Amino acid sequence: MNATASFDDFVARLDGSLVVVTAAAGDQRAGCVVGFHTQCSIEPVRYAVWLSKANLTYRVSLFAEHVAIHFLTGEDRQLFELFGGTSGDRTEKFALCDWAPGPGGTPLLTACPTRAVLKVESRWDDGSDHVCVVGAPVHVELGPAVPPMRLAAGALNDAGHAATERPEPGDLTGDHESARHHPDAMGEGRREELEQAAAGAGHAVELGARQPDEEPPAPVDRRD
Ligand SMILES: Cc1cc2nc3c(=O)[nH]c(=O)nc-3n(C[C@H](O)[C@H](O)[C@H](O)COP(=O)(O)O)c2cc1C
Repeated sequence: MNATASFDDFVARLDGSLVVVTAAAGDQRAGCVVGFHTQCSIEPVRYAVWLSKANLTYRVSLFAEHVAIHFLTGEDRQLFELFGGTSGDRTEKFALCDWAPGPGGTPLLTACPTRAVLKVESRWDDGSDHVCVVGAPVHVELGPAVPPMRLAAGALNDAGHAATERPEPGDLTGDHESARHHPDAMGEGRREELEQAAAGAGHAVELGARQPDEEPPAPVDRRD
């Protein structure tokens, strides 16, 4: 049997849980759905998440002192689509959901009461398409104990970025050429729906890629 194909089945049977990882560096905020995550040390306690080099969240995390991990439940489909199906390179995700700044300004998603903030201790790039970020928990909140959203439930046509994409290093603002060409898995109808919902809630929203000569939007401050 083909090892890669059967390994995909092996991983599918493990059916890992899904989380949203967020990070902030200066005025930049980013977050994405992550399936690659686990505790990786007991003493001292360490937790690891693997971020795709294609993702804005990876680029922002390189400059972040903390990352936050948010537990998703079956009720969080909308957040899952926003953070897993769109990229911060094209969508102001934090104008489309409620959040508040946690340690180091790391965005904490209001809809996810079970979450932990890690202080980044090390990063490990083994040359593959994801980079491991290892951190120590500095802040933990526990909501109701409910089953997590799992990989099997986390079907999307496309992630916001294919893992094979490679923007230039240092492209922290998402203005790079590559950000304008990747189709957005969320689709126009769904994006409009979210845009209207966000506008109704009084948030500023930027949808779609910016044109080359357009000014970047002002950062949205949700600390009100
Ligand atoms: C089920 C599922 C699991 C995913 N797992 C990871 C992961 O472990 N690490 C990662 O960096 N991206 C993962 N992604 C992809 C990102 O969530 C996705 O590309 C996101 O849109 C990137 O957003 P960003 O460019 O704003 O960071 C996953 C997506 C899905 C749908």
